[in-house]
Amino acid sequence: MSGIWQENFSSIAKNNRPSPIREMLALIKKPEMISFAGGMPAPEIFPVDKFYEGAHILKDDGQNLLQYGTTEGYPPLKEFLASWTAPRMGRKVSGQEMLITTGSQQALDLFAWSLLDEGDYVITEDPTYLAALTVFFNHGGKFLSVPMDRDGMQVELLPDIIRKARSEGKKVKFIYTIVNFQNPAGSTMSLERRKRLVEISKEFGIPIFEDDPYGYVRFDGEHLPSIFSFHDEGGVVYAGSFSKILSPGTRVGWITGPKEIIRNLTVFKQATDLCSSTITQALVAEYCMKGHLEAHLPVIIDNYRIKRDAMEKSFEKHLAPLGVTWVKPDGGFFYWLNFPGVDTNKLFERSVEKNVAFVPGGPFCPSQGTGIHNARLCYTFPSPETIEEGVRRLAEAVNELGIPAVH
Ligand SMILES: Cc1ncc(COP(=O)(O)O)c(C=O)c1O
Repeated sequence: MSGIWQENFSSIAKNNRPSPIREMLALIKKPEMISFAGGMPAPEIFPVDKFYEGAHILKDDGQNLLQYGTTEGYPPLKEFLASWTAPRMGRKVSGQEMLITTGSQQALDLFAWSLLDEGDYVITEDPTYLAALTVFFNHGGKFLSVPMDRDGMQVELLPDIIRKARSEGKKVKFIYTIVNFQNPAGSTMSLERRKRLVEISKEFGIPIFEDDPYGYVRFDGEHLPSIFSFHDEGGVVYAGSFSKILSPGTRVGWITGPKEIIRNLTVFKQATDLCSSTITQALVAEYCMKGHLEAHLPVIIDNYRIKRDAMEKSFEKHLAPLGVTWVKPDGGFFYWLNFPGVDTNKLFERSVEKNVAFVPGGPFCPSQGTGIHNARLCYTFPSPETIEEGVRRLAEAVNELGIPAVH
């Protein structure tokens, strides 16, 4: 590349790091590959016809819908979301407490603009969503990580982590948590821990970013109230998304929180993309207001439950005898596997030779060195038959690496 660019790059650009997952997806894109790698919804259940039904709005109101919209978001969509999310949020939020974003990924970016200075610390789960780590990193963030178990972030460890960080002069700016069917760990934060997290937030004066793109994709058990609903001092923002409950191609998400922070995020959004696509927001709103969102959710949930069950069965058959362990997720997209004694980077290479792909655990882990024995597998995209074949090949790869069976 010509020096003219390198010489003029910002210091952030010089340090930026490509997403290992997105790079890998490009590499493994061949028809014979069984991919458990990307977190992709099943295209065969996209509600194409119902979404298309709303296209008449272009004829009815095209002169407005093809125009720029307000940065705050398309009011009918916000109104729908405020009502629809009220049970989870504990109340119906006002328009000033919500901002429509270009995917919830943008909510993460705007939030980092608002909160992070170079060298500030973010508390995250370990493992956590890779693209959140990248956003926070790009904004100068550093990480303090908290291990997970089947009930989510081990929040009882937080007070000591925070006190220690503060005694070392570290500035802890916020806690980032993916509460339901976590990406990548698959686990859900228990009710007790949600409440305890709010107490800790209040005690230490540290706000919370509650990221919840998977919360409505629940197969088993009852929905849990959001952390937002417990915080009576307004210390939580909650991000939601249409990506997993309608389509990621719409790029429509939202963030809910107290007016002051939403206003601050809105000002950053003014300079980021002016507004999210008006026509797309209107199409999404039309789809939702016609009742299709609610009607289609069971189709998504049933489809993914069948695939989750297929993967569970295949794991029992092929991987359990090899000592591999996992926690069965109650919803969402992912399994997080532990392969004792196996370097999952090596396993990845061997698996790709067999035309099966997953994501090795390392990149999800903010603490250096953890995740080396882990792997994330997504079950939503392949068919149940393909899942069985893919897991069989994966087990073959484990065996070929010469790992002694652990019993
Ligand atoms: C935990 C988490 N947060 C945020 C996002 C971003 O989603 P989107 O920008 O499509 O709404 C994802 C996407 O996979 C995710 O897993």
